[in-house]
Amino acid sequence: MKLCMIGTGYVGLVSGVCFSDLGNDVICVDKDISKINQLKKGNIPIYEPGLSELVIKNYKNKRLTFSTDINNSIKKSDIIFICVGTPTKKNSSSADLRQIYSVANKISSSINKFKIIITKSTVPVTTGDEIEKIISKKNNKNKFSIVSNPEFLREGEAIRDFIFPDRIVIGSNDKKSNSILKNLYSPLISKGAQYIHTSRRAAELIKYASNSFLATKITFINEMANLCEKIGINIEDISIGMGLDKRIGSRFLRAGPAYGGSCFPKDTKAIISTSDKFKTNLSVIKSVIKSNENRSNLLLNRIYEILNKKIKNKKITFLGVTFKANTDDMRDSSSLKMIPTLSKKGAIIKYFDPTGYKIEFEKNKNVFYEKSVKKSVEGSDLVIIHTEWNDFKSINFKNLVKGKKFIIYDMRNIYSPAKIKAQGFKYFSIGR
Ligand code: UDX
Repeated sequence: MKLCMIGTGYVGLVSGVCFSDLGNDVICVDKDISKINQLKKGNIPIYEPGLSELVIKNYKNKRLTFSTDINNSIKKSDIIFICVGTPTKKNSSSADLRQIYSVANKISSSINKFKIIITKSTVPVTTGDEIEKIISKKNNKNKFSIVSNPEFLREGEAIRDFIFPDRIVIGSNDKKSNSILKNLYSPLISKGAQYIHTSRRAAELIKYASNSFLATKITFINEMANLCEKIGINIEDISIGMGLDKRIGSRFLRAGPAYGGSCFPKDTKAIISTSDKFKTNLSVIKSVIKSNENRSNLLLNRIYEILNKKIKNKKITFLGVTFKANTDDMRDSSSLKMIPTLSKKGAIIKYFDPTGYKIEFEKNKNVFYEKSVKKSVEGSDLVIIHTEWNDFKSINFKNLVKGKKFIIYDMRNIYSPAKIKAQGFKYFSIGR
């Protein structure tokens, strides 16, 4: 089929490339001409394992093309995926839909034959209705169908999550688009993906409800970890004991720092905004947001305790600063709260991250990027494991240290406490 992906970010580029790898003709469109030129050279603007190989392969066999010409790209395609950003509005909890509506207006003037127009971006419930109104102004309703097809791609695992989804959710109010999309996704369905067709608004809510539930699950285990630290129980035992119950499941039950990323913080706030609009109180999600926002302060207090409340001139190392492993994404990473706060209190911070220097810290005093773990821990008083990169899992700290041993605060519980303590290090972690 002929597809057009509008927006070449994490969602549009990954989905577009994977659709082309399944044999479709895909045009990835972006208004950012430098990004498009880089993509044509095989330079990928995002850190996603395995993506560049797929881009180069499908660009070479001409199934995948890149363009800044949105009108012609839409005219050439049968299915249009809207994959632009829907960030949280400043000083608000609602989603900023300006890019969505701007694209809807452009699509509206490019309908030369029947089109299926799909919101793959995460959009608040009823956004599909608004897009339908915009496009109906210039086009007869039988010339298009507006469909919700939310993505469930985790950064760092996005290709796997596309090829092996737990489910494909199609929200449309007509049968024609449903049968066309079932055909588009048939290669994944034949590999075992569940395909569900529901109303458009239901599909829009499934996305927010799923992310809000995952955020709730993580916050729940993080609060259990707080209790475990007080009682002297190992949170890992709780995660295992709970996770074996199939109704609970063991995934997304790892205690850690506050959750971050481009989705959970944004989506939990957006669903609250939707609930306000429909005058319903989502008290659980409100408490999840509050608990997670407090978590970085809670872990900062833990750091103050570990350093006996003496922060000034203390040398603190962060191993990993992105919001999770296997991504270069800093959006809502808990390090963005912890590092500036510690630097304001006079600490001298060094950080190492496998994805390199972070511009986010350039304005913070006494915060320095180091090119290796070894350089970053040299002379440190406290080494914090902030992100669970595999690169950190087999570090032999004993070989890294000359002289006084630093304290280790493992915020991802990636080490065995017994092993680290046996090497003579003071060791703290989460919920243990
Ligand atoms: C999420 C959803 O998982 C995905 O389905 C959706 O499409 C986009 O948002 P992503 O934001 O890439 O994906 O990251 P995810 O792997 O879900 O992790 C989100 C946050 O939760 C990270 O900060 C991560 O460190 C944290 N997390 C995750 C935990 O603290 N514990 C866990 O067990 C799992």
